[in-house]
Amino acid sequence: MAIVGLDEVTLTTEDLAAGRRFLADYGLIEARADDKELIFWASDRTGVRVRHCEDADLPPAPVSGPTIRLARWGVSDRAALERIAKELGRDRPVQVTGDLLISADDDGNAIGFQVTQRTELKNEPAKANVPGAPPQRVVNTTIDFDAPIVPATLSHLVYYTQDVARLERFYVERLGFRATDRFTNMGSFMRTDGNPEHHQLFLVQRAPFKGLHHIAFHLLDMNQVMLAGKRFADKGYRTAWGPGRHIYGANVFWYFNSPFGGNIEYDADMDVVDDHWVPRETISGPNTSNSWNFGYPPPPRH
Ligand SMILES: [Fe+2]
Repeated sequence: MAIVGLDEVTLTTEDLAAGRRFLADYGLIEARADDKELIFWASDRTGVRVRHCEDADLPPAPVSGPTIRLARWGVSDRAALERIAKELGRDRPVQVTGDLLISADDDGNAIGFQVTQRTELKNEPAKANVPGAPPQRVVNTTIDFDAPIVPATLSHLVYYTQDVARLERFYVERLGFRATDRFTNMGSFMRTDGNPEHHQLFLVQRAPFKGLHHIAFHLLDMNQVMLAGKRFADKGYRTAWGPGRHIYGANVFWYFNSPFGGNIEYDADMDVVDDHWVPRETISGPNTSNSWNFGYPPPPRH
């Protein structure tokens, strides 16, 4: 199928002006802001589109109020689009609007497919000084702690579901996703066939919730996650979880509450895998979902 990852998610809010401030403060680039719609991009032009939650032109909502209304997956070429249209057309409506194909997954979440519009990123890893190795950050230079930080790319999307096994089957069997790790009876990490990163999609089963759990954008490294998160927190935005580091996927994380019905995460340094990877499974809990967490929620008192 060659789905390369998420190009864009459409989110809703009750307050477009607050949503606009939030996304600008988060660090995304404003591409459009009018009375009806906001579009904000990461460096590679993946991003978010935001409408009011009462907007009648959007696909149906899984819950009332702010949430996700469409996930647009980028595919490698038109042949991949045609294969997806044929596959999904076997048992559900597939609507073609311009270059965008829209259908729904087995939970009724609207899913779109388009030839990917992302641009190629070219970045160098940050220079680090390591004992026993020649210094990369050469003598008499230092780190610019005030440099602007723009999220590099849309990393992953997380849906609540009532039946994680069923929804995992849909993405694997119908769209060629790979399950990379699982939380027993509760969560499935999944990657697309055209993207080696550990997950572009995570499904969380936690009744009675539906719709958006969170989205995440990649920053370049842990230092950027800590700096961007601190700046965002200093502006008054509330931490939902972190800063910390996941075990599955190994990504550094910092989650914030958002005005879009779910959280938004800064993350960095996710594992990459291929089809030799053997999915792991464990019971979800504070000691299995992060290797460390120095922020919120605080550890239990003994
Ligand atoms: Fe995440």
